[in-house]
Amino acid sequence: MTVAANPYLQGTFAPVHEEVTATELPVSGRVPEALNGRYLRNGPNPVSVPEPAAYHWFTGDGMVHGIRLRDGRAEWYRNRWVRSAEVARALGEAPRPGPVHAEMDFAPNTNVIGHAGRTFAIVEAGARPYELTEELETIGPCDFGGTLEGGYTAHPKRDPLTGELYAVSYFFGWGNDVEVTIIDAAARVRSSRRVAMGGPVSVHDTAITQRYVVLLDLPVTFSMEAVASGASFPYRWQEGYHARVGLLPRDGDATDVVWHDVEPCYVFHPMNAFDEPDGDGVVLDVVRHPSMFRTQLLGPAEGSPTLERWHIDGHGSAVKEERLDDRGQEFPRVDERRVGLAHRYGYAVAVHEIDDIVGTESVLVRHDLDRRTTTTRSFGRGAALGEAVFVPRADDAGESDGWLMAIVHSADTGTSALHILNADDIDGEEQAVVELPQRVPAGFHGNWVPDLT
Ligand SMILES: [Fe+2]
Repeated sequence: MTVAANPYLQGTFAPVHEEVTATELPVSGRVPEALNGRYLRNGPNPVSVPEPAAYHWFTGDGMVHGIRLRDGRAEWYRNRWVRSAEVARALGEAPRPGPVHAEMDFAPNTNVIGHAGRTFAIVEAGARPYELTEELETIGPCDFGGTLEGGYTAHPKRDPLTGELYAVSYFFGWGNDVEVTIIDAAARVRSSRRVAMGGPVSVHDTAITQRYVVLLDLPVTFSMEAVASGASFPYRWQEGYHARVGLLPRDGDATDVVWHDVEPCYVFHPMNAFDEPDGDGVVLDVVRHPSMFRTQLLGPAEGSPTLERWHIDGHGSAVKEERLDDRGQEFPRVDERRVGLAHRYGYAVAVHEIDDIVGTESVLVRHDLDRRTTTTRSFGRGAALGEAVFVPRADDAGESDGWLMAIVHSADTGTSALHILNADDIDGEEQAVVELPQRVPAGFHGNWVPDLT
């Protein structure tokens, strides 16, 4: 296979090769003065040219891109590889010592978060977080002061009422167990529980409510066959797997989980979950893929990922599935202040296939789930839109009263920009567009990390 034949080494996915620092970035429109902090985004960006036939996007070394906003200015842009030992060596630097888990030293490539005034690049499947400085230099691998027993996840959920991070972590060395952890607001694990799933599953994400942690026990499992064949990404769809969703009481243990059967499918990302106001049930909004890693490991998904509302009764009945939106979409997000609480609005990225010549078009979708309506904004043909992150205008602002921030990559010009939209007027005039000094390859997840006040 050539580089040209691996979709994750070309076009919007092609890695960049330089670490750039630029200050006082050009802006059109006006950066709101209330936005003081950093927009951070992580993604795979192999430091050494990979063997195209063996390269899977999920396994590329993590590179974090950051844009610092302050007092109405776009103060800086930086991109930095996360220095795992291998990345440090490739860059001719000394490795950063630290508590690596089970020799799984990996430059986390999936998400980047702020917590307790610190910055962490994070990933799933056994590797620990790497801590970064404010300016994205690598400090080293982190076990939260010796409190994290194993690896972590790329998708902790922060309870907005307590500031604690809930996570479901998996690792092939734990057999069928996952580890459910709660990290307190001071960045120490205060609770850790093992729960047996039906197999050695890949649990990419979770959701919380005020009562429960949601466990997604779905048919993508660790495959010894894939390992034996030399695959760098060893998780595969398992035909016949018993798909189910568990509700683990927040303070319960493995024996307290109530399981609910669901039609086999795969969910990378819940949008959010919340307790039914009456009764014991839970509402869980997810982006549902009909299957994953069944026939394809590279390239587009196996059928359209749709937005679904799952009704879970809390007593073990099968999940009732309700289609909310049948256009293909991913990267669902809500206002972080609604995580685990009832939400009205959600945001996602849809991709329209236009035709073979002009390629695809990314569309931002704003869901009003009370009215069951959507608003969309296109960024034009050839534009690749990253995950959109909601930032409230003020701490006490309403659920859609704020901005959406996302990086847009233009295939036509090979440039990227940070777009800031008014969340209640996404198809109106943009609040601001911050030009970036180099392209930002398509990646995974990002977050707005406000300055601590
Ligand atoms: Fe993800």
